[in-house]
Amino acid sequence: MNQELQEEKLKELLCTEIIGHDILCFKSLDSTNAYCRKAGRIFPHGTVVTAETQTAGRGSRGRSWESPKGVAVYMSLVLQPEIEPLVAPRLTPVMAISIARALQSMGIDAGIKWPNDIVINGKKLVGILTEMDATVKGIKQVVIGVGINVLNESFPEEIEHRATSLLLETGRKCPREELVAAILNCFEEDYRIFLKTCDLSQLLEQYEQFSVTLGQEVKVLDSQGEYTGYARRIDENGQLWVQKDDGQMVCVFADEVSVRGIYGYV
Ligand code: BTN
Repeated sequence: MNQELQEEKLKELLCTEIIGHDILCFKSLDSTNAYCRKAGRIFPHGTVVTAETQTAGRGSRGRSWESPKGVAVYMSLVLQPEIEPLVAPRLTPVMAISIARALQSMGIDAGIKWPNDIVINGKKLVGILTEMDATVKGIKQVVIGVGINVLNESFPEEIEHRATSLLLETGRKCPREELVAAILNCFEEDYRIFLKTCDLSQLLEQYEQFSVTLGQEVKVLDSQGEYTGYARRIDENGQLWVQKDDGQMVCVFADEVSVRGIYGYV
């Protein structure tokens, strides 16, 4: 059995001021995001919640997130940012950059598939689900959920063609607590930069370096149908600009569409 994630061990590896000041590590939760968002529960800004397994892990677009025990990272970060609710979704690409940087610092080359999947060799390694609770007065909290496949040796048949783990890609057993700490350390830096402008303008260069989508021929599925084009640029709002085959540039919103490479998942 792999070593479980532990608050104290994680804290020793952190060099942050706010992020991870409070950490809660559980053996099992329904979903770390759901736990943080349960009615009446408010955690301090920067709280991190992890679980060894999730019984009802949530993915984006209402999908579920397979959460086998002890082999992956399931964590949620609670933030109470003083920003407009409209800009909160930009925190997802900020986290994607932090994860890609953290992996790079551990010698692992991963890319970002727009808008927020971390991929290696054309397969998905990490999923990010950002959820917000707001009232008319503004944001109560933003919960950034991160699922990382670390030690998985296999995946269910229906996702094995597009899912992978660090073990499968590198052949090495990456220590999960080091990975979590590296991500939180990077996130505190990137979050500070984000807060200066509340957009991605000062992080775009990093995002572009990690992007596996830019320059690729992509297939965009939106509510009106499907079209192909080239992914040309990502703007400071995190939106993707695609040049359609007729030359027209269109702005693609992350929550409206699915973008796939022409030849597969990436
Ligand atoms: C995706 O579909 O790509 C997003 C997956 C996000 C999964 C993580 S695991 C930790 C956190 N808790 C959840 O229930 N989901 C997120």
